Amino acid sequence: MQTLIHVAYLLASALFIFGLRQLAQVKTARRGNLMAATAMLIAIIAALIDLGTIDYAYIIVGMLIGALIGGLFAVKVAMTAMPQMVAIFNGMGGGASALVAFAYFFDGVVVQQPGTTSVAAVLGGDVALTTGLSILIGGVTFTGSWVAFAKLQEIISGKPTLFAGQHLLNLMIFVATTAVGIYACFFANTPETLVSSMSLLALGALLLGILLVIPIGGADMPVVISLLNSYSGIAAAMTGFVLQNNLLIISGSLVGASGLILTRIMCKAMNRSLANVLFGGFGAEQTAMAGSREYENIKETGAEESAMLMEAASNVIVVPGYGLAVAQAQHIVQEMAELLEGKGCQVRYAIHPVAGRMPGHMNVLLAEANVPYDRLVEMDQINSEFKNSDVTLIVGANDVVNPAAIKDKASPIYGMPILNVHESQTVIVIKRSLSPGFAGIKNELFEYPNTLMLFGDAKKVLMTMVEELKNL
Ligand code: TAP
Repeated sequence: MQTLIHVAYLLASALFIFGLRQLAQVKTARRGNLMAATAMLIAIIAALIDLGTIDYAYIIVGMLIGALIGGLFAVKVAMTAMPQMVAIFNGMGGGASALVAFAYFFDGVVVQQPGTTSVAAVLGGDVALTTGLSILIGGVTFTGSWVAFAKLQEIISGKPTLFAGQHLLNLMIFVATTAVGIYACFFANTPETLVSSMSLLALGALLLGILLVIPIGGADMPVVISLLNSYSGIAAAMTGFVLQNNLLIISGSLVGASGLILTRIMCKAMNRSLANVLFGGFGAEQTAMAGSREYENIKETGAEESAMLMEAASNVIVVPGYGLAVAQAQHIVQEMAELLEGKGCQVRYAIHPVAGRMPGHMNVLLAEANVPYDRLVEMDQINSEFKNSDVTLIVGANDVVNPAAIKDKASPIYGMPILNVHESQTVIVIKRSLSPGFAGIKNELFEYPNTLMLFGDAKKVLMTMVEELKNL
């Protein structure tokens, strides 16, 4: 039986790795997700058999309830609310790892060895260390993820909460929590000191999670969620060491590493350092800036005129952004592209790495509307093509096409790579108003001589354009 269990763990580990690999491409992502989910089911069943004498009735009921809640959320949650959902998943993962480590310590040391002996003496130095780390990192992940969720869900203000001496206070709490943790794992040796110091470690970690995330603005939450995802993986790997379960170590490490890689990719795409995201308080003064500068010389256009411009074009680039997701206009934009292609026009989609609100947001939306993969062109490849395009149609994008990122050294987004849409012969911007995007700043592109503003909900405007194109 033990051999079978190890084979099951090995199979699950391999499926996790291959699943992750398949997630890297839109074409294979569904299969990758299914593979990883199957691996998790195999892992859970093998672990339950491995544990031996337990009451399976409770576990089966728990699994059914969990599957029902998970299934309901998966169907009901809107695509735009996906970052919040991932935040909750991470928080639960971190919290579960911390709870398992705490239970293992409590049962193994306080209950089984109620004498005067330390965690390290009973469980060994390595297990004592990883128990402490699991509680610390899992606790931070749990509350940090809930704060991230509350900010994105607008339950609390998305603005950074800043106060004097904040970083010093956080550092002091971190040092104190670490010191208590070292005492709890290696020196405490009576049931009272063991339980109280381990509980203090957990409380310190929970407090740190809140304090570390409140100074970060809502705009940076997806990056924070990706980092917390990495933390939840590290906490799980630590718990794997506690339980001496290789599969948990492998899967936790995969989550830890991939979360960190994704965090780096996102920071690079926004031209920000991780330190700037975590400690910069980005977004604190921007709302004031956005309102203080008015727009001048805006040229407006209508759906009919835009359709005529598109009809005459032989090279069109569509730039999707967050507004496309809000309006759910992915199907109609594809219908328009097919009509244009039928008239001999080349249509491509320019994909900015942080367009929308989560990594790969635009790829997922456009895949949903069956846009052929080869029409989606990454920023680095398409940027040299804008100067040859007749019309660039921006659908609900704002920050990712803001020339201030190249031209205005004082702009908070200065240095962020953007799509060079302003080089196109004609730029049509579909959005509902002159409101700013996520960064909360003015976009001078709207005032450029080659820019036409097409105000309205993206789906409605595109529907009118499609009707016009059909009649032309
Ligand atoms: P944004 O700059 O946020 O602009 C979206 C625009 O869509 C808004 O200006 C809004 O203008 C418009 N809009 C909203 N609903 C609409 C509708 N129904 N119809 C038409 N337009 C609509 O979006 P972006 O250009 O995609 O940039 C993404 C931003 O998010 C960047 O600042 C990026 O750094 C940040 N961010 C992204 C990520 C990831 S991973 N994607 C992670 C962290 C941060 P109106 O209100 O006037 O319509």
